[in-house]
Amino acid sequence: MASCMVYACYIYIVLGILVLKGAEAQRAFFVFGDSLVDNGNNNFLATTARADAPPYGIDFPTGRPTGRFSNGYNIPDFISQSLGAESTLPYLDPELDGERLLVGANFASAGIGILNDTGIQFVNIIRIYRQLEYWQEYQQRVSALIGPEQTERLINGALVLITLGGNDFVNNYYLVPYSARSRQYNLPDYVKYIISEYKKVLRRLYEIGARRVLVTGTGPLGCVPAELAQRSTNGDCSAELQQAAALFNPQLVQIIRQLNSEIGSNVFVGVNTQQMHIDFISNPQRYGFVTSKVACCGQGPYNGLGLCTPASNLCPNRDSYAFWDPFHPTERANRIIVQQILSGTSEYMYPMNLSTIMALDSSKN
Ligand SMILES: *[C@@H]1O[C@H](CO)[C@@H](O)[C@H](O)[C@H]1NC(C)=O
Ligand SMILES: *[C@@H]1O[C@H](CO)[C@@H](O)[C@H](O)[C@H]1NC(C)=O
Repeated sequence: MASCMVYACYIYIVLGILVLKGAEAQRAFFVFGDSLVDNGNNNFLATTARADAPPYGIDFPTGRPTGRFSNGYNIPDFISQSLGAESTLPYLDPELDGERLLVGANFASAGIGILNDTGIQFVNIIRIYRQLEYWQEYQQRVSALIGPEQTERLINGALVLITLGGNDFVNNYYLVPYSARSRQYNLPDYVKYIISEYKKVLRRLYEIGARRVLVTGTGPLGCVPAELAQRSTNGDCSAELQQAAALFNPQLVQIIRQLNSEIGSNVFVGVNTQQMHIDFISNPQRYGFVTSKVACCGQGPYNGLGLCTPASNLCPNRDSYAFWDPFHPTERANRIIVQQILSGTSEYMYPMNLSTIMALDSSKN
């Protein structure tokens, strides 16, 4: 009798350890934003903002396009890897079901911005407020699976990434000369406006459960091959777009600081993607790149015109380019960026890096 009880006891302990281990391995990851972090949602939508044809994905393990705007992995993939997790599936992917929901989900959609009118030319894309609604829908689905309390733990314990803002310049304010927004606002006022709208988005993320959110700034918008091809004389970065990024990024850090102090906790963490890219641009060789001006895939000056398609020029060695297409980094550049997210100094990560976050959060359990 006694041994039976001991045996039963043993079973419970083993099960208990398995559940605990599961919970530990189970830091979910959620991604919101634009093409820099879209893992393929737009493949399921009728839109022209897509990366589902070769040579996109040429260096992905399958060698095939996935909808990521990269030759291989993107920033969310490398973050998943550092969490010891598989990549999150796009929310619209029918394979995202059952247990796989517990890994997290990617809600990002290429072409979107902070503003609802950003990227309207792409027609059917998932604007940020819709992405947030999908997250609530996701939470209901998970709740049906593991119950409301476990769901709340999963959501509050999750890591969240949000990448927005670049398109509010490139695919809105500067999309065409005399755009509606540029007639409405001068640049400094426009930046103030989109920052105030971004603050609402971040607050909403917190309200629906986010407790650790990596918020990326914009890169040096004027230095991407697309802008060098269209706006630059003699290969210098476009001054207007550089000005836009120079106004946007510090104000983003300011709202992160404000929100954290309102909440009384470092929920939001700023990622200085601007500085990370400037490092490549000012000294490409140091990172093993032959160039940070010319895109690997594209056409025209700097390979910066039009889209990356099967008919484009394609560089032989993707690892020696910082830019894959006219707007998006190569897999190798993404890997370096995530390395900085993990262990960068306070110049890159405000107020702390992801390694510190992981150490802090694991000691909470
Ligand atoms: C954008 O759309 C959402 C929902 O559709 C709405 O709640 C929000 O106020 C809109 N933002 C602006 C700035 O109009
Ligand atoms: C960032 O992470 C590393 C650990 O990988 C740590 O040693 C370092 O001190 C951190 N830097 C800052 C500024 O927090």
